[in-house]
Amino acid sequence: MTSEESWDGSRIRALSPEWAAKIIFIDECASTNDEARRLAREGLVHESLVLTERQTAGRGRRGQAWSCPPGESLACSFLLRPEEPMQLWSRFSLVAGLAVAEALDGFGLAAEVKWPNDVWVHERKICGILVESAGDSVVIGIGLNINTVKFPEGLVHPATSIALENGEVAEREGVLVAILDRLRIRSRQIGSSFAELLETWNTRCVLRGKRVMLQTNGIRKTGVMEGLSANGELLLRTAEGLERILHADTIRLVKSS
Ligand code: BTN
Repeated sequence: MTSEESWDGSRIRALSPEWAAKIIFIDECASTNDEARRLAREGLVHESLVLTERQTAGRGRRGQAWSCPPGESLACSFLLRPEEPMQLWSRFSLVAGLAVAEALDGFGLAAEVKWPNDVWVHERKICGILVESAGDSVVIGIGLNINTVKFPEGLVHPATSIALENGEVAEREGVLVAILDRLRIRSRQIGSSFAELLETWNTRCVLRGKRVMLQTNGIRKTGVMEGLSANGELLLRTAEGLERILHADTIRLVKSS
């Protein structure tokens, strides 16, 4: 399998002139999230996308590095200027994972969401998402493995890609446009339509009904993940009762022995 380096702008235009007009392509940058935050301060409009081929200092959650091999992956950041109050912005984490998972349906993948915002296929991570706020804006950073077939040793989570799952190279421009279409739909649901979003998110959750171990500030909790509450908190059934979890450093499935 081979894939050509560099995004094809004319292909994106052919698929969606509307999205093509809202994409800022930067050949190389440290991090698209940083670029999007910088451009937000300069007035970048709602629902714009910062896309790059090469990130030299891609960031993951909890300060981890994120690598996106050029020509093989997607590294981009979607900028929103939400009308909804800031208290609801944490919901964009759920929005983003769900939007990517739904977009992958169109490429024949059975993608699931892993709280708070990873996307997994067959128990392997295919996409990581980093949501950050910047003044009156929200930046949704997306790192998706599209045509990578070899991953470095020692990753925190085993990884997969669209190409590995399907046995053939995927057209990156098509994947990108599909994600943008779903992102637009789902990002408009953090207010009054959030219940519908949650219902769909719950049905796609890889952890739901399974035994998980959460770790926050060194404290571990184990229980069964029952889904998300109406506010998007994780519901964990432990020996002590039902707990509502807003944040965790790590969460993983506990394999039954
Ligand atoms: C994670 O799973 O830890 C989140 C990874 C997020 C990576 C993406 S790649 C595009 C954007 N720019 C960054 O520096 N990070 C996000």
